[in-house]
Amino acid sequence: MEKPAPGPDRAKYAAAEKALDYVESGMKLGLGTGSTAAYFVDMLGEKVAGGLEVVGVPTSTRTYEQARALGIPLTTLDEVERLDLVIDGADEFDRRMNLIKGGGGALLQEKLVATAADKMIVITDNSKRVSHLGAFPLPVEVVQFGWQHTQKRIYDLICGSFVGGVDIVRRMAGDSPFITDEGHFILDLHLKKIDEPEKMAWQLKELIGVVDSGLFIEIADMVIVGKDDGTTRIVNHRPPLRPFR
Ligand code: A5P
Repeated sequence: MEKPAPGPDRAKYAAAEKALDYVESGMKLGLGTGSTAAYFVDMLGEKVAGGLEVVGVPTSTRTYEQARALGIPLTTLDEVERLDLVIDGADEFDRRMNLIKGGGGALLQEKLVATAADKMIVITDNSKRVSHLGAFPLPVEVVQFGWQHTQKRIYDLICGSFVGGVDIVRRMAGDSPFITDEGHFILDLHLKKIDEPEKMAWQLKELIGVVDSGLFIEIADMVIVGKDDGTTRIVNHRPPLRPFR
């Protein structure tokens, strides 16, 4: 696989490459979604072709198709009790490694897989590091039935408990609403800043019609931050995750 020239793609590539150090034969792996995770899946495909023995659980149809084409052995979440590790991208991460995910629309499967894994490594680049989550619009997955009522409940919750106002936009794919792999809509909440992400995550989750939000609270164990020059920096919890190589 060709290494991209220095720049944003090189940063993603570098983060993905570094994550391979935490993978060993015999692992059950969650395979993330998005452009950074796609680099990782490509690299994993090369390792599998070279003899690495892993089994993957993809977090989206996109990742399933990519991994299958590369010959990575796959299974479903229900066929495994636990995963050893999930490697996925993020749209934002803060200093406590809380995340916003779902820019690619796969937040629900991503959260199901991440919470079934013993460890989560986030592969990302410096542009995703924020002091407060929320500059990236927060995706919220909602059922289609009565979605405008759900939107109103979300609006009332946000304005009543968090900020004075919020633009909520139903995500589109061209002229049609974007539909997730699970058959739901996504509402993107333009909040600018989230002061209490834990509280918002739990309160959103309690609303009728909301399936889940892209807030990943205390799920990530480590963030690998790729830089444009191809170097990486690691943000880790204590005790830190140790690479196998
Ligand atoms: C997919 O739904 C998202 O959660 C992605 O992981 C996130 O959007 C990061 O994607 P990129 O690696 O393309 O920035």
